[in-house]
Amino acid sequence: MITVGILANEVELVSELCERIKRETDKSKLPTAVKILDIGCGTGKLAIHLGSETAYDVTGIDPVRVNVEKAQIKAATSMVTAAFAVQSAEAIAFADSSFDFVVSLKALHEFHNLGKALKESMRVLKEGGKIFIIDWIGSVAGTRSHLHVKKYYSPERLKESIVDAGFTNLSLKINKTSKLMLCEGKKLQ
Ligand SMILES: C[S@@+](CC[C@H](N)C(=O)[O-])C[C@H]1O[C@@H](n2cnc3c(N)ncnc32)[C@H](O)[C@@H]1O
Repeated sequence: MITVGILANEVELVSELCERIKRETDKSKLPTAVKILDIGCGTGKLAIHLGSETAYDVTGIDPVRVNVEKAQIKAATSMVTAAFAVQSAEAIAFADSSFDFVVSLKALHEFHNLGKALKESMRVLKEGGKIFIIDWIGSVAGTRSHLHVKKYYSPERLKESIVDAGFTNLSLKINKTSKLMLCEGKKLQ
């Protein structure tokens, strides 16, 4: 198992995310070419971890070119097959229904337009596909016009945004010690 770069405070929820993806793929007997998109991948930590844990087809996107280049080097040196592209979560350059899962680690709070990013995630997910978001727990509860670059969403606000984007079957797990939350939603079949 490659846990390179996964921080101590991330281990619990990242492991849970991996387990849920594995459970989901076992349950639905998806074909081997399961496709995962990591939005706001940074230098590729989660994408590379998932690639190594699941051997699925993982793609990471981030608008910062230098992050994407570092992710490509990291994947190559870790001998993990993962693709990376310079793209923003608000304007994903992949076709509708391309992915089985969309994931994200500690990136949502940086997106300029959360609603747009979630709608784009919904668009590129296949029917029955799932989104798994890990981010810091914050206190930004209301005001959809909130445009600060660093805004840590409250669990309630994150759930509301995910529902607004059309996801169903929501679940949210909180890790109080690490101050992180994992939120899951499903695109209806
Ligand atoms: C705190 S870093 C986390 C990176 C990575 N997920 C990790 O856990 O190491 C947040 C990332 O979100 C990216 N980001 C910011 N705005 C974004 C957007 N609109 N779409 C996609 N990624 C974005 C940043 O470039 C940065 O790499």
